[in-house]
Parts: sequence; C-alpha cells; structure tokens
Amino acid sequence: MSVNIIKCGSLKQKPSEIVGFGKCFTDYMYVAEYENGSWNDGAIVPYDAFSLAPCSSVLHYGQAAFEGLKAYRNKNGDVRLFRARDNFKRLNTSLGRLCIPPIDEQKAYNALKALVNLEREWIPVADGTSLYIRPYVFADDKSLGVHAAKRYKFVIILSPSGAYYARGFAPVSLKVERRYVRASKGGTGAYKVVGNYAASILAGDEAVRDGYDQVLWLDAQERKYVEEVGSMNIFFVFGGKVVTPELNGSILPGITRDSCIKILKSEGIHVEERAVSVDEVLAGAKSGELTEIFGTGTAAVISPVDRLGDDGDYIIGERGKSGKIAAMLYERLTGIQTGKLSDTFDWVDVI
Ligand code: COI
Repeated sequence: MSVNIIKCGSLKQKPSEIVGFGKCFTDYMYVAEYENGSWNDGAIVPYDAFSLAPCSSVLHYGQAAFEGLKAYRNKNGDVRLFRARDNFKRLNTSLGRLCIPPIDEQKAYNALKALVNLEREWIPVADGTSLYIRPYVFADDKSLGVHAAKRYKFVIILSPSGAYYARGFAPVSLKVERRYVRASKGGTGAYKVVGNYAASILAGDEAVRDGYDQVLWLDAQERKYVEEVGSMNIFFVFGGKVVTPELNGSILPGITRDSCIKILKSEGIHVEERAVSVDEVLAGAKSGELTEIFGTGTAAVISPVDRLGDDGDYIIGERGKSGKIAAMLYERLTGIQTGKLSDTFDWVDVI
C-alpha cells in the first residue's frame, strides 16, 4: 500500500557537512494519528511544529516512547536500513508497557521505507555519518485525568547525523553512579520510554560536572550489579572473555547489544550474559584482568571506555585508545551497516 505524501512548498538547503548528532532534520516526516479506537494510515508531510493544547496529556504524564535506528547510503547510492523491523517490534513492547495501543509494524515499516526513499539525498555518505531515524509515539488527550489517553500521534523524523559523542570513535569516561538509580525491576527500565531519560539527566549532568562523559548505572535494589549506561549497553572483557549484564528486566534490550553478541559468537569469542557486580569490575580494573570496557547503542555505535571513576580513577586498557575487541566490533558492525562487508546475518534491507 502506498503512503500519501503532502509536498513541501520549498525544500531546505542541505548542509555541506554533517556535524554532531540530532541537530539537523530533513524536509519531511511521517505522522499517523490514533483516534476513536484505531490508527489512521498516516501521511508523509512537511517537517514542521505540532500544535499541542496546554493540557495535552504527554506534557503532564509523559505517556510516550521512542526508537532510534539508522539508514546508510553507500558510494553506489544504495540505501541500507539496519534491523528496522526489530525497532518497530521493540517500540510495540514499549507501547504495551505504557498502555498505548500498538502500531501496525508492517505499515510502519512501509511508511519508513517511503520516507527514507523520499529523503535519500539527505543521507550523508562520509565515514562515521548516517541518517538517524527517530520513530516515536505520544499521548495527546486534552484532559488532566491520569489514565491511558484516547488520542496518540506516531511520528518518524529523520536527522542526518555524525558521531553521538563529540570525539567520534574515541574512548569515553564513566562514573559509577552510587547515589541515583535508573530503573528497578517491575519498572520501565527494559522499555524505551521517555521518563527513563528524563530521570537520568541529573545524574548525567553531575557526572559531567565531575569530569566524566556518562554514568554507569547500578541496580536499584542492592546497588551491587552493573546495569547499563543510559544511552548504551555495556560490555567488559575479563582475561579475553566478554561479559555483559544479562537482560534482567531493568536493562534495555539493545539491538546493537544483540548484534554485537552475535558478531562476537560468530568470531568464536565466548560471551557471557550474566549478573556483573561492580566489585568484580573494580577488582578487574585494579588487577589488570579487565582489559576493555565498551558501550553499544544505535547512536553511540561502539564506544570504548578508557576511564572509570569511583573511589578513584581506573584506567582501562591504554588511555585514549580503543581495545582490540571494541575496534573489531566497530569495523564489523559498521562494515555490515554500510555495505563494506557482506551482511551474513541478514540484518540489512536495501531499499
Ligand atoms: C539510540 O541509541 O538510538 C538512543 O536512543 C540513545 C539516545 C540517543 C537516547
């Protein structure tokens, strides 16, 4: 089924160079609406502001969830979407947790393909750049009662972007967060809902003030086990063995996390998904057994970590350099995404 397009009067000037993440947006977006018990077909419309009533429910109770995925354009002009269907599946899981009616995943995928195709000239080709895609759903009831809304919008916007961290594929630093928690079991930590991010900003700001890039979250109950980094999942390499926190109900099931586990296994590298205590991490950092830490995420891709702060600073591996496993994963993952390497896992749709 084709997607209706409402054309722009005039198109924007495309930037000659892409700098940073999520700052520039294309000419069009996709918008569908839920009203009277069903989603409409939606349409591709000019990228523009919404009009929201001051009482719109999302502004008060945060009933909203989102996704992040990427499209790449290579030198032959092929446009490649990475694991897009998995993102729409996860979006529906998040919507379910917030009592938001599910979207039709096939319709969403068709709309995304049509939108990205229309905007293919916006997809940057320089190394380290891509078209970041942000699908999201929010409640738009015009009333202040706390209950599931009856009206929603499903939107997809596109942002030609460079690296999420200003320094690109260069190590970042993390502060072990002992004061605040991100999520607890039974809460929303395993879902990509907006409140998780709002609640993380204070700790993130304090970490930056203390000289770190982000926080390493611990579990809410015992403050003993490592969970994730907020914009990434986290991996450790202990004596050649790769270990990552298991999906325990309060960690986001990252699609990049899953891709990395599959790549590592295909390389014959043992990966353990299990509870990882912060004591084990700090002991490994002291003894030197912990040779690498890296984060994984759509925006962050693979981000090596070279400094961990807690009661003091621990340097992991060589300061300023990525470890071998993180570098291999970066090459393999971005190679598959951009088409430089063959897509042996069947993750890419060329559209
Ligand atoms: C992503 O990696 O796509 C994210 O959503 C993380 C962050 C930019 C919020």
